[in-house]
Amino acid sequence: MSTPTLAILITGSNQGLGFETARHLSKHPHIHLFISGRNPSRVQEAQENITKEEDCKAVIDNVVIDVSDDASIKAGVKEVEAKLNGAALDVLVNNAGVGFDRQIETLGLRTAMEKTYATNVFGVAVISESFLPLLKKSTVGPRIVNVGSGVGSLSLMSKKNWISDNLSFIAYNSSKAALSSITCTLAMKNPDIHVTVLNPGSNATNINNFTGTMDPKDGSMLIVQHALERTGKSPGFYTTGGGDLGW
Ligand SMILES: NC(=O)c1ccc[n+]([C@@H]2O[C@H](COP(=O)([O-])OP(=O)(O)OC[C@H]3O[C@@H](n4cnc5c(N)ncnc54)[C@H](OP(=O)(O)O)[C@@H]3O)[C@@H](O)[C@H]2O)c1
Repeated sequence: MSTPTLAILITGSNQGLGFETARHLSKHPHIHLFISGRNPSRVQEAQENITKEEDCKAVIDNVVIDVSDDASIKAGVKEVEAKLNGAALDVLVNNAGVGFDRQIETLGLRTAMEKTYATNVFGVAVISESFLPLLKKSTVGPRIVNVGSGVGSLSLMSKKNWISDNLSFIAYNSSKAALSSITCTLAMKNPDIHVTVLNPGSNATNINNFTGTMDPKDGSMLIVQHALERTGKSPGFYTTGGGDLGW
């Protein structure tokens, strides 16, 4: 096997959109892929499932990272650095995400907000900052691909009836708006890194009790495209079905 030329890490890729993104990327022989998640056995199982597919051509690695935990991120960066053996990380896909709005009655609003932000906002900020040195070693146009949502677009959200016709989730929606802001700040601070945020559309995954309308095999294609090559502008906000999404 030839040496892979594109190293990609996807957070929260043991199921859902992250897993399907990893599956698509695993068909490319030039990729060194890090499957990641917070639960060691689920991560291991995902790695095994992808590796055993007949047309898996990439080098498939794994790293356990809980993005809401600084010690876990620190250990994860060290492990990835060691496994890359001097090479760069070219692409970081910040996909891990949670939603606690359906549990506000039992958790209370403050706790639901804190738990959502710990992963969707603070997690992305800290993990991106932590992987910057490895990303900056890349000579193939490093990028950070953030998996956001249409509910992170204030221009959409402020349209009449948009919220009532969509998700009126105060914690989740605001966390994705913050993610859009983090995308812009990362791009501004690091002009050498291409940073985008994506709306993969409504997909049937665990986060919405599988009520989404698309199959994540299809919804993940936008993430795959942005992971494979620099797409659009930095910062940029793109949506499934094509096109720019207003901030
Ligand atoms: N599904 C949709 O319709 C939709 C629409 C727009 C945006 N998104 C976004 O797409 C991303 C992927 O979600 P999904 O729909 O694929 O949902 P999912 O199937 O629930 O997957 C979420 C993934 O994130 C992982 N995760 C959660 N907290 C984590 C943490 N602290 N550290 C590391 N990993 C963690 C989960 O791990 P466990 O398996 O251990 O729980 C799981 O692998 C999220 O950012 C979500 O907000 C989804």
